[in-house]
Amino acid sequence: MGFNINNLDSQKGKIAIVTGANSGLGKEITIGLLKVEIKVIMACRNLEKAEKAKLNIIKKVPSADVEIMQLDLSRLASVRSFVKSFSKKYNQLDLLIENAGIMIPPYVKTEDGFESQMGVNYFGHFLLTNLLMPILKNTEGARIATTSSIAHQNGRINFNNINAEESYSKMGAYTQSKLACLMFALELQRRLSKTGSNVIAVSSHPGVSNTNLFSHIPKLFQLLMIPLLPFFAHPPKKAALPMLYAALGKDINGGDYLGPMGYKNMKGKPGKTKAELHAFDEEVAKKLWEISEKLTGEKFELSN
Ligand SMILES: NC(=O)c1ccc[n+]([C@@H]2O[C@H](COP(=O)([O-])OP(=O)(O)OC[C@H]3O[C@@H](n4cnc5c(N)ncnc54)[C@H](OP(=O)(O)O)[C@@H]3O)[C@@H](O)[C@H]2O)c1
Repeated sequence: MGFNINNLDSQKGKIAIVTGANSGLGKEITIGLLKVEIKVIMACRNLEKAEKAKLNIIKKVPSADVEIMQLDLSRLASVRSFVKSFSKKYNQLDLLIENAGIMIPPYVKTEDGFESQMGVNYFGHFLLTNLLMPILKNTEGARIATTSSIAHQNGRINFNNINAEESYSKMGAYTQSKLACLMFALELQRRLSKTGSNVIAVSSHPGVSNTNLFSHIPKLFQLLMIPLLPFFAHPPKKAALPMLYAALGKDINGGDYLGPMGYKNMKGKPGKTKAELHAFDEEVAKKLWEISEKLTGEKFELSN
């Protein structure tokens, strides 16, 4: 019972985009999708790293149908040019896996004026989804999956300081960005349902996994954590399972939120889990949507 990655039928013919596919969870998600014969576009900012990861992935899945396309989510111009290149080549997109992310970097503003975590984790993905919507709507049963985190529980959308102009808390900006990713999926699903579309939006979180995401944590603290990791973290291959469940599960409905079901949702088998109540605040979600349209300069057209 439940979701078993080793027990899935081939899904040959489907096409997926995975953002941040060259490392950590994105790489494992890519491998999981390739194993069921889905064609995967690895949407990565660094082509050299992506090529290395691709070679490693092909060793693990020799039959892989995988392609790299450059996408830097910290630049709206790059998101636009990625979508242009993708749309020239494909008119089908079954899975849009929004996985790329950064955590607690020093304060940097992107060229579009976003605080970098909000820019990469949320605004870049918001625009990406918006621009790919015509192709998603053109694909029967397409799914959009955003990546949240346990950290969304402490997140608040601070409309007065959304890009940390007033003050910068590294963790505050991260938790806000991860709440935004979750609220975006929920709001997108509400809007898709109203149009009668069969595209669905879902979200997942991986629990805790020791990846490059933690590179901004002081080295000494990282070393001290190593012996404790088996108690509260699981390897990327396992942490990728909630997203693979969100992408491939037959019993997934729009608005579902997937995560590990073990102690405090930090590790364990993937399953449907509950977001914090404030993630369902429709007024905040609507306001966030409107601000995101304004700041990315693109109006979302969902009606058919
Ligand atoms: N690991 C955890 O415990 C944990 C917990 C909760 C949520 N998450 C979420 O899981 C997702 C994946 O994280 P991870 O743990 O796999 O970390 P990771 O190994 O650092 O992977 C992050 C990926 O995002 C890419 N990326 C960063 N900035 C980008 C940009 N501007 N444009 C395009 N891609 C960019 C990275 O590319 P480069 O290799 O070029 O940097 C990398 O491929 C993130 O959204 C994170 O918030 C992780």
